[in-house]
Amino acid sequence: MQIIRDREALDAALRDLRVGGATIAMVPTMGALHAGHMALVEEARRRANHVVVSIFVNPTQFGANEDLSRYPRREASDAQLLSAADVAILWAPGVDTMYPNGPETDVKAGPASNGLDGESRPGHFDGVATVVARLFDQVKPDVALFGEKDYQQLLVIRQMVAALKLTVEIIGVPTQRDADGLALSSRNIYLTDEERLAARTLPRALGEAAQAMIDGGDVAELLAKAVERLAAAGFDPIDYVALRDAETFAPLERLDRPARLLAAAKIGSTRLIDNLAVDPR
Ligand code: PAJ
Repeated sequence: MQIIRDREALDAALRDLRVGGATIAMVPTMGALHAGHMALVEEARRRANHVVVSIFVNPTQFGANEDLSRYPRREASDAQLLSAADVAILWAPGVDTMYPNGPETDVKAGPASNGLDGESRPGHFDGVATVVARLFDQVKPDVALFGEKDYQQLLVIRQMVAALKLTVEIIGVPTQRDADGLALSSRNIYLTDEERLAARTLPRALGEAAQAMIDGGDVAELLAKAVERLAAAGFDPIDYVALRDAETFAPLERLDRPARLLAAAKIGSTRLIDNLAVDPR
């Protein structure tokens, strides 16, 4: 695996990979890799001849009071994992390479960015859309893989690709979880033992609410109940527990079409997000 940090070297390496019409799958990440990221890499290997993974902790998607400075950075062990997974290129640009004119956002996220994380984290999805557009322009992948763990992000990227008429195919990969149900996240390492125990309530509350909605329960009541459960487990603040149309992301008051149940809440100083598919019977 080549670890590449500048554009000229990247262009040359990509040219070599593409010889004979070989295809490239890309997995954009911010590093501190776990089995969730590696599931994307495995799926990438099935979808193309070569895999390119990027690691870039993108400053434009972090708010002023967020965890940019303490976000985990462990490139050496990440590189070992990726190399063992047969990744061809680790693209690890510095901030100056990605943002030669300073950290600005020049791509505006579409309507899927309205509400939920778009509201709790102003500017976040413009930062995501900008960096992913730049990564696609640099690598020009045939296919790119994103986790359903960040469901709103996945929709924002699908909308961006459609709006900019990019030819890259976007694939969503199901959320990978620990044995007790907690979605894997680079941020889970922030959790104390006590917080880690309480964190299990997030997937459990979502799972129970989802099942009760499928069984015909009242959506508003079940959302309120899930909020109460999270509060009782120590989550504070609870940014949202919401039901959205799985495709258009419009808010839903009734489970009358394929939906997504999503939540974001803080336990201690760590903000966790999760979501589940909820399909009506
Ligand atoms: P990061 O949080 O590092 O996640 C990289 C990719 O891994 C995203 O597509 C995310 O949805 C996926 N992922 C994370 N945890 C997962 C899990 N438990 N199961 C399945 N997939 C999981 O998301 C970002 O980085 C950034 O916003 C990025 C897209 C790289 C732009 O900066």
